[in-house]
Amino acid sequence: MSEPLSDFGVIGLAVMGQNLARNVASRDHKTSVYNRTTDKMTELIAEHGSETLVGQETLEDFVHSLAVPRKVMIMVKAGKPVDYVIADLLPLLDEGDIIIDGGNSLFTDTVRREKELSEKGFYFFGCGVSGGEEGALHGPSLMPGGSEKVWNWLQPILESISADDFSGGKCVTHVGADGAGHYVKMVHNGIEYAIMQMIAESYQIMKDGFGMNAGEIADVFETYNKGKLASYLFGISVPILSKEDPEGDGFLIEKVMDKAGQKGTGRWTAIESYQRGGELSTIAQAVNARVSSSEKEKRIEYSKLYTPPVSSHEKLDKDRFVQQLEEALYVAILVSYAQGFDLLEKAAEEQNWNLNFSEIARIWQGGCIIQAKILGTLQDAFLEDSEKPLLQIESIQQSVSAGWADLREVNKIGIDVGVPLYCIGAALT
Ligand SMILES: NC(=O)c1ccc[n+]([C@@H]2O[C@H](COP(=O)([O-])OP(=O)(O)OC[C@H]3O[C@@H](n4cnc5c(N)ncnc54)[C@H](OP(=O)(O)O)[C@@H]3O)[C@@H](O)[C@H]2O)c1
Repeated sequence: MSEPLSDFGVIGLAVMGQNLARNVASRDHKTSVYNRTTDKMTELIAEHGSETLVGQETLEDFVHSLAVPRKVMIMVKAGKPVDYVIADLLPLLDEGDIIIDGGNSLFTDTVRREKELSEKGFYFFGCGVSGGEEGALHGPSLMPGGSEKVWNWLQPILESISADDFSGGKCVTHVGADGAGHYVKMVHNGIEYAIMQMIAESYQIMKDGFGMNAGEIADVFETYNKGKLASYLFGISVPILSKEDPEGDGFLIEKVMDKAGQKGTGRWTAIESYQRGGELSTIAQAVNARVSSSEKEKRIEYSKLYTPPVSSHEKLDKDRFVQQLEEALYVAILVSYAQGFDLLEKAAEEQNWNLNFSEIARIWQGGCIIQAKILGTLQDAFLEDSEKPLLQIESIQQSVSAGWADLREVNKIGIDVGVPLYCIGAALT
């Protein structure tokens, strides 16, 4: 008797593809995998192969191992490689087969690919995947965009592999047509940039302004993580900051070079907002901060030329500041989300996407990098009023008004002690 065909196929077996394929296979959907460099496939199958996870050495065998209509997820490097893989695949596929791009593709590429493929009789789905390698394996947040008809076919598989939201639902929804899923994923990454930068600024102001060491700052973040700032990003900051240097004194974080890079999705989000005439200052400032961080040599030269006057922190009340910072961060993060959703609103209008903001806040509640308690508040706010911009919804307006004075105070202290607050400052502005 011949082997049963696979329900799903994954092309591209770097960290994301491997883990996503293992996730699908573990939900009883037989999954075929293929990678340009065969070694990666054989290593994956040697370690994790099973009745439901099978590897193929050639693209032809991979395609023939799939049940029709074939569902092929591409998890390769974003950009040209996606076009190359599609070009290799098409002659082997049949009309009606489905290609899903799960990488961080630029949404305009997704719109183009969807149009080109639908004209040829194929279905194309652009699916944002968030959660890094852990999320991909145990349950990511998925942001799929494409036709309603294909969503109905893919829904059982995508729901089975995605994370849980706060109410036991799944962190996946049909975001909208063509590039909508990748667009929402891009804005998600932009918000992630801003929140990470705000965390970095909080660290810096506690360190430089109040002389706190990384262990003490970790304790503060641990407390924040039990309150309204509870989130994956604050959660992971605690072990990162408290890790001691195994080869010397002090904390490891203090030995890490302060030079950040970027892969591009934050920058795309900022460019998008400028092109659409929107304001996205918190995310744009996070991109600026990364650029400045990457120019370490230049910063060293400047620091020899300029020594800004800095006030002493000795008079400041540390405990009070830590409380003010929590309130300030809450408002600043709300502003960053508000700017992200404003951009989504503009894009939805111009691209003719019917985006549901409470659903978007819901599918970010689990699996993804920006998963946070605050997303429950945002989901409720959009359910309260789906027409108004976030900052005009009454419950949000009350929260922002309540923390505004603290946000201003934190910015004043930042200026006094000489710590640049790119994002926390942009949020106040
Ligand atoms: N890493 C993350 O945390 C993360 C999170 C969310 C989304 N993403 C997105 O998910 C996608 C996959 O990410 P990743 O980090 O797992 O992998 P990656 O490093 O972005 O890409 C490596 C994969 O792409 C393949 N590839 C590159 N050029 C190719 C070409 N011309 N033809 C065929 N295959 C090609 C590689 O095959 P070979 O092995 O043959 O070189 C390998 O399988 C990307 O779009 C990424 O932006 C990543």
